[in-house]
Amino acid sequence: MIDRQIWIIDFGSQYTQLITRKTRELGHSSVIMTVEESRDLINQGHKPECIVLSGGPQSVFEDKEDYSFVFELNLPLLGICYGMQLMGQYFGGKVEKGVIGEYGHTKVKLKDGQSIANCPPEISVWMSHFDHVSVVPQGFEIVMESHNKLVATIVNKSKKLMGLQFHPEVEHSEHGKDILKHFYSVIAGLKEDWDAGEMLKEANELVKSVGKDYVLCAFSGGVDSLVAATIAHHVIGKNLHCFFVDNGLLRPQDYGHIQVLKNQTDLNIEIIDAKEIFYKNLSGIDDPEQKRKIIGRTFIEVFETKVHEYERDHAIKFTYLLQGTLYPDVIESTSPHKKGGKSVTIKSHHNVGGLPERMNLKLLEPLRFLFKDEGRTIGMELGLKHEWVYRHPFPGPGIGVRVLGELFPDSIRKVQESDQILFEELLEMNLYESVAQAFTVLLPVKTVGVKGDGRAYEEVICLRVVSTSDFMTATWSDLSYAFLSKVSNRITNEVRGITRVVYDITSKPPGTIEWE
Ligand code: XMP
Repeated sequence: MIDRQIWIIDFGSQYTQLITRKTRELGHSSVIMTVEESRDLINQGHKPECIVLSGGPQSVFEDKEDYSFVFELNLPLLGICYGMQLMGQYFGGKVEKGVIGEYGHTKVKLKDGQSIANCPPEISVWMSHFDHVSVVPQGFEIVMESHNKLVATIVNKSKKLMGLQFHPEVEHSEHGKDILKHFYSVIAGLKEDWDAGEMLKEANELVKSVGKDYVLCAFSGGVDSLVAATIAHHVIGKNLHCFFVDNGLLRPQDYGHIQVLKNQTDLNIEIIDAKEIFYKNLSGIDDPEQKRKIIGRTFIEVFETKVHEYERDHAIKFTYLLQGTLYPDVIESTSPHKKGGKSVTIKSHHNVGGLPERMNLKLLEPLRFLFKDEGRTIGMELGLKHEWVYRHPFPGPGIGVRVLGELFPDSIRKVQESDQILFEELLEMNLYESVAQAFTVLLPVKTVGVKGDGRAYEEVICLRVVSTSDFMTATWSDLSYAFLSKVSNRITNEVRGITRVVYDITSKPPGTIEWE
């Protein structure tokens, strides 16, 4: 497969994932890889159908590595920003340090007689560079210049090469996707042959490799684990067994959802009621990190015990653990720019970390080459219901990190009831899918209010609603006052013990999406 793909070689740009996403949206299968990975694959005799060199923070004046192996393949090649500078230099042009850098929105113009797709004569694009190609190599034409008269786009039609000093992959670049499409279709002459059917075929192939072995799934009911399990079930049928752990930290909608999936899909889902043990282990704990660690550890203990019981009762042995891991997580853990770099733990994320090693299971990750929206597309292709596929994400520790401080049954109830109201109102106003995530948080403060004719001294619910596509950064959602007012009224009227509702208007960064 790797031979029929577009290889996006990552020089450390913060936008490399976006190049890959846009490329796939345009109907081309593509993978991100490091320079070393591409070198190894080429040495093993592999060859892509086309290459894209990403931007990067380096300067050709400091980076002395030899990249000629990439250009010697004589394949269609797109160089973006730093990638264009490498290309310009390799083919005999000249790169110079700029007198002025170009950062952010920049106007670029088509040279007389030139055209790219349906671009008007002048467009605004996203730039981030200091060095630039000052002398264009032989055989290349200048197609666009920036308003500072710097070379912005070069093309060598006969060799199927293109260089862009700006970033067509970011939303801020007008006609960015059209320009990429122009490169792939017109300059490189590639066919658009990557769609949901192809993605599914690949995911199926991956699952087939397990043969007759038994596969286990820590099923959450979220879109990723649902799509992964549905794919696996189609291929291996009853050899897949899904366990859903009820940690008592779920919302009313989650309890409803898991029952619906149990009744309306062919998946073999077993619900493990582990509320009591989670509550017992969390009793007296108010530190967020400690709560997260306890929830993670308890999950593993409960899951492991149940699985061993099942294996004993059915005289089988599970070999694989099915997970809905997505491509961004795979890249995150393999990219040399991120791996090995020192990073601070902001929150210890709890999913099923540690389980495969502990239980000696091999991993089965049919979505590991897909982005979330592609996983959703496959979900629809598999015939899953729209509302299952477009559910908001819900974190593993659930309400455990939405009751700030120590967890008590009554505080869990307050979050459950208020969350249900927010959920109902978002659906009612047709807003649910226009925001990325929405939930309520119980703040550990008491405030004075009046209810009826009496004084109330009760707690505060905070509404957290965010818009984001990648959950790495997020903005608070600009919901109407009428909507917020209705939700606030319902919560203070219907949720016992709540007198005040506030709306969180913090973006990420600096805030994270969850409060703990
Ligand atoms: P933060 O709070 O880090 O959240 O901005 C980003 C996204 O991750 C979700 N989240 C988790 N998901 N296990 C999960 O599966 C976790 O431990 C966890 N913590 C946060 C959060 O809901 C948001 O979508």
